[in-house]
Amino acid sequence: MQTNETQSQSKTQTQSQNGPGGPREDTHLADSGTALDRASAWALAMDGVTRRYGRGGRAVHALRGVDVRLPHGSFTAVMGPSGSGKSTLLQCAAGLDRATSGRVTLGGQDLSGLGERRLTRLRRSRVGFVFQSFNLLPTLTAEQNVLLPLRLAGVRPDRTAAARMLARVGLADRARSRPGELSGGQQQRVAIARALITRPDLVCADEPSGALDPATAEDVMGLLRQAVREWGATVLMVTHDPAAAAWADRALFLQDGLVVDEANGWDAPEIAARMRSMRTTRAATAAAEVAA
Ligand SMILES: Nc1ncnc2c1ncn2[C@@H]1O[C@H](COP(=O)(O)OP(=O)(O)OP(=O)(O)O)[C@@H](O)[C@H]1O
Ligand SMILES: [Mg+2]
Repeated sequence: MQTNETQSQSKTQTQSQNGPGGPREDTHLADSGTALDRASAWALAMDGVTRRYGRGGRAVHALRGVDVRLPHGSFTAVMGPSGSGKSTLLQCAAGLDRATSGRVTLGGQDLSGLGERRLTRLRRSRVGFVFQSFNLLPTLTAEQNVLLPLRLAGVRPDRTAAARMLARVGLADRARSRPGELSGGQQQRVAIARALITRPDLVCADEPSGALDPATAEDVMGLLRQAVREWGATVLMVTHDPAAAAWADRALFLQDGLVVDEANGWDAPEIAARMRSMRTTRAATAAAEVAA
């Protein structure tokens, strides 16, 4: 487990070793345009991204013009009230969902220009995604779920790597269990192992510690930090937990589909205070709307 001291050391190392132009280990399963992509300054750039669900009077504007830039080898937390657009932002960033307008660029590759097949290939080779609802395949064992991204990418499934990854999330003895036989927190940890097995460039994690006790949540945060340190992954993580967000280099605060604030290197109490003030502002706005 990382101490706070090693955590801040690794932040410094990450920035100096893996910042724009810094050396990166060439371990991902990239399939196209890699020379250009790796030269790109940003692991992820979102410019003026909007996402509207539905049309007309019933349309929901989940994202209303989001600008986000993530340097290679950085760890960013996304926070905000329920319904503020956090999962939508993550899914647009990962190419799982298409923006209604604006541009999403992953390692220099503009996602809007890609057809479904190329987008799927790029996602499989570059992105690890931890879903808010885990999305494990119920008929596969924990080990088979973890190996699935390698199978889909056409890479020989490495059972030793899967065993190592399951051990890292504390599930060495549950490799043969199916999701239905695992607790929520155990399923969440299988989902995290599955997202990291390919050593992806971009790790998108939607509340990866939502079902975990504080000690296990710390282990998972250490694992995400390790991905940054070990292979220069860029991590974008949604969380409601200020203690989890404090593991990140930066926190973005989302409200009503917009990034309204950001914090660099804040500790958990500072982040919690910011979240409280967002709730207070929101409650005051809602009360004013009801009164009007
Ligand atoms: N498929 C969909 N169809 C219609 N509206 C949707 C859809 N997905 C999300 N929304 C709406 O978009 C808005 C943002 O949803 P999103 O899931 O991104 O919020 P969130 O910040 O992740 O919330 P939570 O913290 O509860 O997970 C919400 O108002 C939601 O109801
Ligand atoms: Mg969500």
